[in-house]
Amino acid sequence: MSATAPPPAGGHASERIAVAAERRWAIVVAVIIALLVLMMVVTGLHWASMPPSRVETIDLKTLHVSGEFVEGNLGTTLSPDGRVTVRLIAQQYSFEPQCIVVPADTPVTFRGTSTDTVHGFVVGRTNANTMLIPGFVATFTTTFRQTGEQLMPCHEYCGTGHEAMWAKVQVLPPDEFRQKAAQGERLSCVPR
Ligand code: CUA
Repeated sequence: MSATAPPPAGGHASERIAVAAERRWAIVVAVIIALLVLMMVVTGLHWASMPPSRVETIDLKTLHVSGEFVEGNLGTTLSPDGRVTVRLIAQQYSFEPQCIVVPADTPVTFRGTSTDTVHGFVVGRTNANTMLIPGFVATFTTTFRQTGEQLMPCHEYCGTGHEAMWAKVQVLPPDEFRQKAAQGERLSCVPR
């Protein structure tokens, strides 16, 4: 071992004990590392093969012809229990509807998806911000505090027309919104 003075009497025994203890701890540490790596591999494979909770999928091929996202069902609805839902789809390079009406000071639930590639949107400087991914329904609920018009640009690069892809959001006073919604149609502010 060392080139200096030989170990004192009994030194060999204590060295053996020290080496054995080090080896035991090396084995313990190696087992812990192996367990952690195994956990990473198992959980990684498990989550890769299972969608996380609350993920809603939707069939792209029937999106336009049946179900929740047909053209006549897009826009804003006020259900009898007072819940406001906005349904929209994104495609290269526009949103449908192009102008969305929502009430202020009321929780608004957005439900959106994409027909072609990954898009996204953010409403003005609010926290209404999500990605729209083909095959999945994006959902979030937010409350707009200020009335007025906001821009809603696509914020995921989706192709050469990306920068021209945006819509508008009109935030109305709650009473005005309820009057408009009383007619029972899908609301939007797209000029007719
Ligand atoms: Cu759609 Cu960028």
